[in-house]
Amino acid sequence: MSQRSIRLWCALLSLKASLLFGYGIVKLNPRYERMLLHDDAAVLGVGIYGIVSLTHASLLEPSKGETLRQVVLKKWIKGDGHHQASNEFDVMMRLSSQSPYFAEPIGIISKGDVHERSYQLVMEYGGQDLQHYVMERGGTLPIPEVMRIGYQLALALEVLASNEVCHSDLKPANLTIRDNQIKIIDWGSSRALGIAQRTMDGTPIFSSPELIEGQACSKSDMFSVGLILYFLTTGKYLPEELRGTPFPNSFSALFFMANTEDPEPSYAGCFAKTLAVFQLVPELAACKDKEIGFRSFLRSMVHPTPSFRPSHREAISFFASHLH
Ligand SMILES: Nc1ncnc2c1ncn2[C@@H]1O[C@H](COP(=O)(O)OP(=O)(O)OP(=O)(O)O)[C@@H](O)[C@H]1O
Ligand SMILES: [Mg+2]
Repeated sequence: MSQRSIRLWCALLSLKASLLFGYGIVKLNPRYERMLLHDDAAVLGVGIYGIVSLTHASLLEPSKGETLRQVVLKKWIKGDGHHQASNEFDVMMRLSSQSPYFAEPIGIISKGDVHERSYQLVMEYGGQDLQHYVMERGGTLPIPEVMRIGYQLALALEVLASNEVCHSDLKPANLTIRDNQIKIIDWGSSRALGIAQRTMDGTPIFSSPELIEGQACSKSDMFSVGLILYFLTTGKYLPEELRGTPFPNSFSALFFMANTEDPEPSYAGCFAKTLAVFQLVPELAACKDKEIGFRSFLRSMVHPTPSFRPSHREAISFFASHLH
């Protein structure tokens, strides 16, 4: 028996008591030769569609040997779990090797018998999600930190666009942060560009006008990132700012737009107001001189017409030049 196998068996024996049993591996990221899940899952969150928990896995990589890693399990409780897990796994597999800002997929496991089988996506733990992260810091982040996040997201968006993929549901809860590094998660709504979809399944509050109409384009995620950076800077979603308009808040405004028979006139009006808001928000209006550029850049990111939004290169250069 080689030294490496002995080391592996010793590691396995010491872990045996805590390993999770009774699952099958449906897919495994080819980077790994073996994955052993531990039986210490703690629930991170329960949503409408599934349960997400944090656990550990021993992962064997031919070049590095075995490592113990924190991993996330995402289990679907509604719909076709196999299909959903596979879709998410496949898009993550395609993209994660191209950028450090996408969470790495590790595998898919199944549990149960033919009558009641459930599927779980196993992926790297990206840290706390940005929604909780910003709340824990009093609701806003300092502008230099927002710039750093903007820079990472701009780099990630460029990779997405070059792969002709739109994430379609970028929002603080779908981004994680650990050691100042962002990871994009939740690829369930992602789609290939150029394929029209009648329905939108992202989150209207962060969605671009064209996405709500089912027409994702290479600049749709840019709009969402503009709103995310706005949220991180001011601690506010747009709804509060849009009060006093014909719609009580932009969430219902966007839903209204998505469902109305003839969205055109009010649609344009709503987004013109969105732009005006960016000039009026005191937190942004009070930005110091060198941050004024940030305010107008954010405004251009959320332009209702995609072609008026900055290019991915422009976004990368803008945030790079504001890194401290
Ligand atoms: N890889 C990960 N690393 C860290 N936290 C994660 C990870 N994946 C998911 N989470 C946590 O679990 C939450 C829900 O995960 P995810 O967004 O993938 O599921 P979802 O069912 O689509 O949720 P929702 O419908 O609310 O968007 C995230 O907001 C985040 O807090
Ligand atoms: Mg989510």
